[in-house]
Order: sequence, then structure tokens, then C-alpha cells
Amino acid sequence: MSESFQAESGGKPGFTRRRFIIGSVGVTAVAAVGGTTVRAPRAFAATAPSGPPTTTVPLPTTTEPEQLLLTWGANPASEVTVSWSAPGTVAQPAPTLAFSTAPITATNPGHLVKMPDPKPLDVTQRYGAAASVSFTDGLNGQTTYFYHVQLNGLKPGTRYYYQVSDGAHTPSTAGASFETAPAGRAKFRFSSYGDLATPSWDLNKSGNIWHESSDNAWFAVTAIESPGDGKGAPLFHLLNGDLCYANLDVNNAPGVWRDFGINIARSAANRPWMPALGNHECEFGVDDIHGKAGNASGGVAAQGAAGNYWNGPYGFGHYLSRFLLPDNGVTNWDGNRLRGNFYAFQVGTVKFISVDADDVVYQDGAANYVINSANAAPEVTTTGAAIPNGTTAYTRFYTGDLKLNAKNNSLVPDYSKGKPNLQTIWLEQTLADARHDPSVDMIVVFMHQCALSTSVPGNGSDLGIRQAWLPLFDKYEVDLVLSGHEHDYERSYPVRGYDAGEHGTVSAPNPGQTKGDAVDTRRPSVAATEPSSVNGIPAWNTAEGTVYLVLGGGGTNGPTNTYGTDAATDKAQAKVITTRNEVVGSEAAGFVKNGADSIEDAPWSAAINPTDAYGYSIFDVDPGEHKGDTTITFQYFAIPAVSNLTGTAHDGTTTLPSVPTEKFVFGRKVGKK
Ligand SMILES: [Fe+2]
Ligand SMILES: [Fe+2]
Repeated sequence: MSESFQAESGGKPGFTRRRFIIGSVGVTAVAAVGGTTVRAPRAFAATAPSGPPTTTVPLPTTTEPEQLLLTWGANPASEVTVSWSAPGTVAQPAPTLAFSTAPITATNPGHLVKMPDPKPLDVTQRYGAAASVSFTDGLNGQTTYFYHVQLNGLKPGTRYYYQVSDGAHTPSTAGASFETAPAGRAKFRFSSYGDLATPSWDLNKSGNIWHESSDNAWFAVTAIESPGDGKGAPLFHLLNGDLCYANLDVNNAPGVWRDFGINIARSAANRPWMPALGNHECEFGVDDIHGKAGNASGGVAAQGAAGNYWNGPYGFGHYLSRFLLPDNGVTNWDGNRLRGNFYAFQVGTVKFISVDADDVVYQDGAANYVINSANAAPEVTTTGAAIPNGTTAYTRFYTGDLKLNAKNNSLVPDYSKGKPNLQTIWLEQTLADARHDPSVDMIVVFMHQCALSTSVPGNGSDLGIRQAWLPLFDKYEVDLVLSGHEHDYERSYPVRGYDAGEHGTVSAPNPGQTKGDAVDTRRPSVAATEPSSVNGIPAWNTAEGTVYLVLGGGGTNGPTNTYGTDAATDKAQAKVITTRNEVVGSEAAGFVKNGADSIEDAPWSAAINPTDAYGYSIFDVDPGEHKGDTTITFQYFAIPAVSNLTGTAHDGTTTLPSVPTEKFVFGRKVGKK
């Protein structure tokens, strides 16, 4: 078993490989195979807190620039956005950015950009080339400041140096350098994972433990700067949602974001980090869902009960303040511009598309206050905001309506009420344009929640994504779909279309369902189960089917790497969420929320990793000689688990493996004679 697995995977043993034809399960322990020992600095805090703070922790009042962050503009060969923040609640006096193709020095001051005065986040407005944005957290009242400069007209494949300053009487500065994307057909490397969270107290700048903190979040950033194969850092990184779980620390969301920003700056100051929205980016506050301040009588305390429990537009206020992402040009039905909620960019011959699956999933957002006990008090924060028991932030269809096409169990934009789902319309147009663009060979979609997952303690596969977007991924032959959400690694076979009929069984009924009923889970059809080979590396043809990769092992303290198997057949099995996982109950009795309602046998599941939950992925793009020749060589590197939320520090070191756990080539011509 392990021999044939090794031969196919092209990496070291350690994965359970399951094939739906054979149905066998084999487990081989991961052996320590080479690697780099990394010692963390451990200088930030001396003693371990007993757990996350239960009151609001003050933020600094200094102004030195920190949390440096790069993102691509619309054209990565010529546009890069440089962002940074003040440490806490005081705006920088006179912030500036200087940039140049040579290091910034006294004799080379570079081009200077002076920042405007900060304005509160307002996504109905367009951004200038330089923008200063403030955001006041709805639950703790702390205001934090972010600065964005959209550089354009840069030269392709060129290194730029930059320095930001707070402009204080005695200025504090910080800086780094980055490389623009190459023009035309070119080789490049990118990386990905989701569900990063924050380091634990010993490696957090604040010295705090936050919910989901783990020192794996520190090593995950280290790994991107120095990938295990020794072939250098990527040009950019894709961060597949659930960035830092700030919504779980209701008294300290700005402080959690700060520790996240400082941690990722070790890489994001040097290369763009491109995020996707996840469920944990949705936060409670005191606004309505559109981001307008709630004005229920009774002041701040009354807003939650009146439905004003959102932190900025759709709860995404912190995310939208921090990341100024490529503009999709779409204005929502409520007047909010949807810049950053979803977007696309192209590097070389690959189109990258980030989508927000919160808009289509049956799952809720992760801002929840659901307590299964009678007459539970509201969740009250230090500012007096009170969120009633039974509240969940549910953002499905926030960009407009979808309706069921029963003929093929799909969801399509619903024009009948005049508000069709704008993200899905944009996604189809973007996919169509990409597939017909002669300069694009391959399409990579990244999002947070999963269409295909067999994790047992995780969330499961969401029928909403399968209904709304898999028909588009099939039609336009998306090559790879990357996700997070499950805190583990999983890979599908290439899939195309769906297995008609009812392949699911209701196991945990929602209201209106009956246990044991058959249900159509729109199960993806397997297109191929045997790879071909490119230079001795197993290779999958993604023109035949889309490959789904779950890459959610960034660093949270809650791994979910156990996977479903049908005990009767020994085949892979998946939980599927086929209806809204509604909160049911009452104030008097308490509330509960259902998990995934159904299960299906999952022949599409090709590989799982029950041994290591954490890891990162490296993708090497080679455009080849001619149109359509592009290949992407994929390596997944597992990272050993190093520490958890509470307790004593780990020993400060870990070994980042130098050998990939899996290695594959993906391409649209591979295996063709
Ligand atoms: Fe997560
Ligand atoms: Fe998630």
C-alpha cells in the first residue's frame, strides 16, 4: 500500500489514500524526513496568561508604522498596494510613503506620497490613490487606523524599495522591498493556506492568548518566507479566509487583528498576501447589515435586539479597512461597493479569482451567540452592547438572490424580484472572459468554505457552493479550487459534472427534514482516478476535471483532520450541509444550532492527511512554450503541531520539513498523446 502510494504521490508516505473503486484504507505514519529546525524569538512575553482576556485590553497610543502589508492591484505587473497601520488608537501625525527602484536612503529619498487625513470606512465611496481609513469596532469602541497607497505604473518583474513614516516630530519609519509580477508568459511561484489565526502568547506582540491562538500561526508565516524545498519564497501568497478569528474575542477584535497583522508582516511586507473572505471575518458590532450605525432607542445596549449586530458592512468592517484589494467594479443593491469582497487578477498565464462563499453557503457566518440553557443573558461587552441569545450572523445572498433550477439542482441568479445575485453574475462573466482570453491558460479559484470535504469534526461540504458555483466551474473548466474552513489537508480527484439522483441521506435533520430520507447532494462526478506522469511526477489533467484542494491548516488551535469512512462499505464519506443550519429554540428554553444534516459516500476524495493538520502549499507555474502548455507543480508540506491555546510555551523550535508530503503536476495537456 505504502509503496504504490509513494509512487503515485511523488512525496513521502503519510497519507491515507482512498480509491472509490478499491475502497481500501491504508495508514502509514509520517516519518521525520529531513527538514530545517526553526527557532522562534520568544521575546514578546515572559509568562503565560491563563486564557483569552475577558475585558477590553488597551491598545498602544504610539504611532510608529507597523503591520506592513502588500497586495496586488488590478494588474500585478504594474500595480501594487502598500498598506500599514498605527499600533493602536492614535492616528499617525503626517504619514508618508517613499518608494524607489533603489534602497531608500538619505541620498535616495525616492518618490514621496503624503497621506490624506483619515476618514471612517465608507464603502459607498471610491478610494483615491492614497487613502487613510479609520474603523471603530462596534463592540469595544476602539478606533484603529490604516493607510493605503495604490502604486501604479510600476515596471514588470522589478524590485521596488519602500519606506513608510508616521511623520512624527521624531519620525518612526519601517520599510521593505517587493517584486512586481513578470509581464507575459513567465515562470513564477505562489503559495497558499487558510485559517491562519494568531500565534500564542509567547509569540504574539501583545503577549495575549486569543481564541484559536497557536504558535503554528507563527511558523506558517516563517515557512512562506523559506519554503522547505529550498527554492525560494513565492512571488505572492493566497490566504483562504478565516484570517485571525477576531470575531471570537468580542472585547478585543482590534487587538486580535493587530497581532495577526504583525505576524503576517514578516512575509506580507515583502510580497503580496491576497485574502478571501471567510466566515470568521464576519463580526458582531452595532451596525445594521449594510454597515449603517444602528439607531434603536436604548442606545448601544439595544442594538443587538433590534438586529443591529454587524461590525461594518456585512460584519466585514475590519477586513475591508485593512485590505484594499483589486476593484471588481460591482456596487451592491444597498449602495455599498463590493470592492474586496471578491476580485480577480492575472499573473503570467494564470487567472486567480477570489470569491466570498459566505454569499452562497447554507452555513451561517461565525459570529454566533447560541447558548443551550434557559434564559441565558445577552452577550454584553465592555461598551454595553448586548447581543441576545440565539443570534447568528447569516449573510447568505447578501449580494442578491439566487433561485433553484430544479432541472439540474443548481442555483442561478434570480431576476424576478429585481435583485439577482451580483457576485454570481460577476463570477460567470469573469470566468467566461478568462476562458476566452488567449493569454490565460489556467484558472485558479480560491475561497474559504468547502464544496468537497470529508472532515468529520469539521463543517462538511456545502451544497450551496455546489449548486451556485460548481456549474460555472464545470462550464468554464476551472483548473484548481483552493479552500480552507476545515483545519486540515484534503485533495479531490478531478471532478466534472455531478452524479444525478439522491446520493445523500439525512442524518441530523434540520426543521422540515426527516432522518433517513434520501437527499440530492449534487455529488461531483469523478473524471479520473489514475494520474499520468510528467518527468516522473504524477500529473492530473485539469481540462478533464477540476481538482479541489482543502488547505486549511494555517495555524488555528482547532485541527479537524479526521475524515469520514462509511463503515459498511469502507468508502470515503462526507458530511453535506443541504439546508440552512438553523438556530432553533427559545429564550426560555435556550437555543441550539444544527451541524451538517446529511452524509454521502464520497468517491471524489483522493487524499487526506490524518497525521498532520498543519501545512502550506507551494505552486510553481511554468507557462511552457505555447498557448495551453502551462503546468502548475504543486507541493504540500506538512508542519508538525507545536503548541496550543493555553499552558506553557512550546520549546520555541519546530522542524519545517524539506520533503513535500504530496507533489503533483496539474495541466490541461498532461497525459495527452
Ligand atoms: Fe477556520
Ligand atoms: Fe471557516
